[in-house]
Amino acid sequence: MRIALANQKGGVGKTTLAFHLANLFAGDGRSVLAVDLDPQGNLTSCFVRSGVQAVNHAAVLFQGGFPEPVRVAEHLDLVGADSVLSRYEDHSATDGLYAVGTWLGRDSEHDCVILDTPPAMGLFTRSALLAADYALIPADVSWFALKGLADLIASIDKLRTTYSARVSVLGIVLNNIQERQSFAQETWAELDDVYGRLLFKTTIPESVRVRESVSQGIPVTRLDSGGKPAAAYRRLYKEITERLEQTPTI
Ligand SMILES: Nc1ncnc2c1ncn2[C@@H]1O[C@H](COP(=O)(O)OP(=O)(O)O)[C@@H](O)[C@H]1O
Ligand SMILES: [Mg+2]
Repeated sequence: MRIALANQKGGVGKTTLAFHLANLFAGDGRSVLAVDLDPQGNLTSCFVRSGVQAVNHAAVLFQGGFPEPVRVAEHLDLVGADSVLSRYEDHSATDGLYAVGTWLGRDSEHDCVILDTPPAMGLFTRSALLAADYALIPADVSWFALKGLADLIASIDKLRTTYSARVSVLGIVLNNIQERQSFAQETWAELDDVYGRLLFKTTIPESVRVRESVSQGIPVTRLDSGGKPAAAYRRLYKEITERLEQTPTI
């Protein structure tokens, strides 16, 4: 099963959630492949401090080849990225769109693939969504959230109709929630009105421990396993796996 993290807005927690999900699935004994399709390479930095070799780089996909995953932890492999990937951003060849899907179609080793994408609906995000079974959308509760999410879901729908993509929206995860977020209550209520069916009940609290965890490359479930953010990620993981067992949501 392949899950692409997507949101054209930056800083909403795509990479953070990709990192935690990959670790949670691996911790559950699943064979996980994490794929960084963002030239910022943030997910790669979470797993490896010194970057990846050219053969383990996502750029290989857009050169017409297949990258080799590198083992970064037990049950967890990575195909990484850095700024080199941005050279392929304007790659107009349409086969670029299918590069990820074609490659993963040949992979029988991993039962769970987590794809991290950049904050734009460009080639990398589209190729990830075309390869994915599910899109998972982290979002913040801001004034922009409503419009942004509507655009994103419309883009995913368009991919489904234009390219007969099978991707469906698994759900929306509200991230960076402050304990007393009264200011955003209205937005939240509106989100619930429009997307209630897709919203995960679990929200991820805003926490310095999450930031530390990402910068140290240690999931918060290990860095501070008794804390609130760790409990939230574990609850969210449970909700996600339960939803995965049901039929696609859209
Ligand atoms: N729940 C959270 N609490 C505190 N900081 C967070 C949380 N989620 C993400 N962050 C921080 O916010 C920044 C952006 O998150 P990131 O996952 O990189 O977003 P994206 O991949 O969508 O651009 C990072 O510095 C990350 O550590
Ligand atoms: Mg990111």
